Amino acid sequence: MIGGTVEAFDKVFLWITAISVVVLIGITLVMLYFVFRYSRKRNPIPSHIHGNLWAETLWTVIPTIIFIGMFFYGLEGLRALRTVPDEAMTVHVKGQMWKWTYTYENGATADTLYVPVGQPVKLLITSADVLHSFYIPRFRVKEDAVPGRTTYLWFEATEPGISQVFCAEYCGLLHSAMLSSVEAVPREEFDAWVEQGAEAVAEEEAAVEDGGETEAADPVEAGRQLVSSGACLTCHTLDGTSRIGPTFKGLYGRTTELESGESITVDADYIKRSLREPSAQIVKGFQPVMPPQDFSDRELDQIVAFLESGL
Ligand code: CUA
Repeated sequence: MIGGTVEAFDKVFLWITAISVVVLIGITLVMLYFVFRYSRKRNPIPSHIHGNLWAETLWTVIPTIIFIGMFFYGLEGLRALRTVPDEAMTVHVKGQMWKWTYTYENGATADTLYVPVGQPVKLLITSADVLHSFYIPRFRVKEDAVPGRTTYLWFEATEPGISQVFCAEYCGLLHSAMLSSVEAVPREEFDAWVEQGAEAVAEEEAAVEDGGETEAADPVEAGRQLVSSGACLTCHTLDGTSRIGPTFKGLYGRTTELESGESITVDADYIKRSLREPSAQIVKGFQPVMPPQDFSDRELDQIVAFLESGL
């Protein structure tokens, strides 16, 4: 059902597994034969053998052929994984604690990787903070996301469907929750989706330009956008339940006890400081696990406006 990287990978995998099974059975049979044939009963006086040219040549030449075969098969597979077809479309992937974000050539962004069926997709992968690893088991591809560097991989979905994406490099507390998915959809559906995504981004940018530095189109909406497009909702909720961090519901204006024993009221200053230096004032009962967030002053104001709005 899926070609390209899957075929290349599975061929090598099956080849090596098949060889391993044959070798395992071969060695086991020979061993059983020797145990039987040369037991003390059948061979009371051990014979001393000083070399056997045939046996030595065979056990050198056969494994050499097997391993060279594995090497070339593996090399061919590696080449298939690293050679991106010319017609591939490019999507940028950013990993951060603890979320994957996808950006398309036309500016559209998403946290699910939508791809058209039947087109190779090249991913340019990077990280905003620590090492992550972008892994799609179904397409047999995995590549590290390294801060300050761009790595790549490619795959092709040959039929519609949803495939799981994992982070495969331990990156902190919520490593195991750093999930996402690939959604392969028919060409026309994809084109419409990506077009719409780009328009939404363009509208947002236009709104920012119109609004200038002082007034945004709607700060509450902009804040909501930032909170849901950032990694915030991996740890915080909007519905009142506690997860890794306190919920955002009813947060603003609340009096809260900190780990230090101090009592504070959640206001704009507290929220802004908690975004820039998350470990400075930890709410009682929570762990200092949040990475500092890189928001501009304007974005901080929008997030505050959103939290103050009562959600
Ligand atoms: Cu990101 Cu593990």
